[in-house]
Amino acid sequence: MTDILLLNGPNLNLLGQREPEIYGDLSLEAIENACKQQAVEQNLTFNSFQSNSESDLVERIQQAKSDKVQLIVINPAAYTHTSVAIRDALLAVEIPFIEVHLSNPYSREPFRHHSYFSDIAMGTIAGFGIHSYRFAMQAAIDKLTAQ
Ligand code: DQA
Repeated sequence: MTDILLLNGPNLNLLGQREPEIYGDLSLEAIENACKQQAVEQNLTFNSFQSNSESDLVERIQQAKSDKVQLIVINPAAYTHTSVAIRDALLAVEIPFIEVHLSNPYSREPFRHHSYFSDIAMGTIAGFGIHSYRFAMQAAIDKLTAQ
């Protein structure tokens, strides 16, 4: 059983090297570790997964159902703007999720202004760099510990 599953989409494995003026200079591993620490401090179990592949992300979301994941925090990255398949997987497993972005997609190119996730997410946190993950984790923890 996992309380919180953190999912990261394509190219986020390159955090720290990739366009640091937009995405910051911390690695994905550092972000995952910080998120894990937030969860563990509240006695919640935590797992994380990153993939560049849409099908791997769909498989991991499907697996989350049997892992009894309570809540998903997801940065779908570029799939935010393209993936009906990941949207459908999240709808299929009926696990509440929070959408997170390092940058603010609405202040960027028009093709980033549409998300396939925002209308079905518990909420979306975007534009605060690595703090977006911290805020999303806090929202997830508040939700799970209030139950
Ligand atoms: C992103 C924003 C997306 O538009 C982009 O494709 C990403 C990262 C973000 O975290 O700001 O890869 O999801």
